[in-house]
Amino acid sequence: MIQKAIDILKSSKSVFVLTGAGISAESGVPTFRDADGLWKNYSATDLATPEAFARNPALVWEWYHWRQSIILKAAPNPAHYALVELEKKFSTFLLLTQNVDNLHRRAGSQNVLELHGNIFRARCLSCGNVQEHTIDPDNEVNNLPTCSCSGLLRPDVVWFGEPIPQDVWQQSLTFLNQTDVALISGTSGIVWPAAAIPELAKKGGIKTIEVNLESTPISPIVDISLQGKAGEILPQIVQKL
Ligand code: OAD
Repeated sequence: MIQKAIDILKSSKSVFVLTGAGISAESGVPTFRDADGLWKNYSATDLATPEAFARNPALVWEWYHWRQSIILKAAPNPAHYALVELEKKFSTFLLLTQNVDNLHRRAGSQNVLELHGNIFRARCLSCGNVQEHTIDPDNEVNNLPTCSCSGLLRPDVVWFGEPIPQDVWQQSLTFLNQTDVALISGTSGIVWPAAAIPELAKKGGIKTIEVNLESTPISPIVDISLQGKAGEILPQIVQKL
């Protein structure tokens, strides 16, 4: 099966990649829906909502700061680096990620679009100003972060029930429409609109390859579904291109 994926990529000129939390799992960053997905008994869907923030901003910030501290101490893994190498082999390449952890850029990927924002940015609820926001991972954060206008800051990420950045989505669809192959890795394929990508690719006659630890709702749709760790399978594919 890996060979089939390699053959598809070898006959392609343009590649679209979609990633999710599973790509960063081997860096030690917890995913959202696997066994390690709970934080203090809360799930992502309990915390990543505007309602949760309105109810208890300190709790939501505590979760984001905890996630930041893990990400800051983590490093990109072989899956991230394989995608850096993949990009170098194609003249047209786009990596769309649902991850907010910045690890693709830290690894060296160039053409990256973030569908759900970035955990190292915050946005002011009063004046709308977007700013960098990175904690010192060795010191506890006690106060709610505020803007220079004294408004409350929130993480500059997309929460459940909120619109995704339309420019990012449009650019992704434009690229998807003219690409040869879509490689989808490390996503459970249940959060929209990213979950629509395999279906859209199929409808557009684009070849589809999935690399995931386990079978997902995407698996029956794609041309090739490879099960295993992204950090093992992606390097195996890329080194044979
Ligand atoms: P999920 O946590 O839903 O899914 C992670 C997927 O990665 C699962 O299918 C795992 O089997 C797979 N996986 C885990 N380790 C892996 C490994 N080493 N190699 C390959 N695959 C592995 O994460 P996402 O699909 O990214 O949104 O979740 C989508 C969105 O839901 C997130 O961006 C976040 C979340 O709530 C928001 O916060 C808005």
